[in-house]
Amino acid sequence: MAGKSLHSPTVSCSIQRSLLAFASLTLICFAFITFHSLRSPSSAQLSSGIPTSTVNKVFAGGANEGGSGSFSSYGDVYHSPESFFTEYAEMERKFKIYIYTDGDPNTFYQTPRKLTGKYSSEGYFFQNIRESGLRTEHPDQADLFFIPISCHKMRGKGTSYENMTIIVQNYVEGLINKYPYWNRTLGADHFFVTCHDVGVRATEGLPFLVKNSIRVVCSPSYDVGYIPHKDIALPQVLQPFALPAGGSDITNRTVLGFWAGHRNSRIRVILASLWENDTELAISNNRISREFGELVYQKQFYRTKFCICPGGSQVNSARITDSIHYGCVPVILSNYYDLPFNDILDWKKFSLILTENDVYELKSILKSISDEDFAALHKGLMEIQKHFEWHSPPVRFDAFHMVMYDLWLRRHVIKY
Ligand SMILES: *[C@@H]1O[C@H](CO)[C@@H](O)[C@H](O)[C@H]1NC(C)=O
Ligand SMILES: *[C@@H]1O[C@H](CO)[C@@H](O)[C@H](O)[C@H]1NC(C)=O
Ligand SMILES: *[C@@H]1O[C@H](CO)[C@@H](O)[C@H](O)[C@H]1NC(C)=O
Ligand SMILES: *[C@@H]1O[C@H](CO)[C@@H](O)[C@H](O)[C@H]1NC(C)=O
Repeated sequence: MAGKSLHSPTVSCSIQRSLLAFASLTLICFAFITFHSLRSPSSAQLSSGIPTSTVNKVFAGGANEGGSGSFSSYGDVYHSPESFFTEYAEMERKFKIYIYTDGDPNTFYQTPRKLTGKYSSEGYFFQNIRESGLRTEHPDQADLFFIPISCHKMRGKGTSYENMTIIVQNYVEGLINKYPYWNRTLGADHFFVTCHDVGVRATEGLPFLVKNSIRVVCSPSYDVGYIPHKDIALPQVLQPFALPAGGSDITNRTVLGFWAGHRNSRIRVILASLWENDTELAISNNRISREFGELVYQKQFYRTKFCICPGGSQVNSARITDSIHYGCVPVILSNYYDLPFNDILDWKKFSLILTENDVYELKSILKSISDEDFAALHKGLMEIQKHFEWHSPPVRFDAFHMVMYDLWLRRHVIKY
């Protein structure tokens, strides 16, 4: 926010021609900036002893153009804590979702398939929405309408991708013909939830579902038509976690960086071939077995400072939420990933966001981050852990409620 308010005076200063006018304007601007920096809550956090960080220098660019990077701090993990907590409370009081009751729950409608595995975020959402007080049985009171079809469940039943597209199309067209709600907004107040990317593709038969409705998906890839201002990135969470959450344990984190996995994408191939023999980065081209037993893979997250999260077949990966859970600062190594809750949480306060080309400098980038800055990132991570956890029944500020909050932010695009 401070960055934005600085922008216009800086621009208006630079266009002055007269040197004298320029000088005096600069003085005014300087006073203005100082005034702002004194008042802004983020600068108050800066006085807590965290110096202008290397991370800001390395990763300025995105939100903090124009060299105003020093105005950001690690203190606030929320872009706007005031509006988040105020709006969240209002959401709890007022938000109402109507779930269509059509479809046989014994097939792929209404109920979740399971609450375990890589795609369990979908199952949890289906379960949580029924357990929460945010549901209404009266469509006239609804802010949004949930289309309760589970592509993950269809996949479990061996349905082909082509048939899925037809099933989704027939189901939604059935709702359009039967009820008046869809036609009022061409689906703008309707949403659909899918974690596996087949679910995203299964909506292709319905152009208005893709264009107008809110698609809540784990794979927010722009090449499958993800629309950032409308759609919502669902965090992919591998459930259940094999070991408890990481806590105040930074002294145990002696390994600089860690990744172990399949080389199933270009960036993973490069990552492995560049760093596999490195003595400070624990990069292993073989996936360590996730089988219950020794839990070697999971234990490594406790010992590591930075966990590398390169995209695989999709930009998303359950490794990001594994890292968050085990207290290892995630290093997002992906071009264009609209991260979950990106509009609420400031990911720069608890992760490193790199582009794929940074893989060549990975070690020097990680080494350039001071112990102090690492401690600040780790502290941010501890604050946001709860936002990536699923529970049944859901609890305040958990992953379910963060998704609901994102839906709440989109509710008034068109209001009936
Ligand atoms: C796809 O649908 C057709 C027609 O209903 C059916 O005969 C076929 O078995 C289905 N295939 C799969 C893999 O679901
Ligand atoms: C909604 O609009 C479609 C297309 O115009 C139409 O076929 C359908 O019957 C309408 N639904 C209702 C409930 O009127
Ligand atoms: C650090 O590691 C030791 C040995 O594995 C363990 O006993 C201890 O509980 C860990 N400390 C924290 C804070 O997790
Ligand atoms: C890593 O070590 C293996 C075995 O010695 C070798 O074949 C490979 O080329 C090395 N990779 C790199 C990047 O140096």
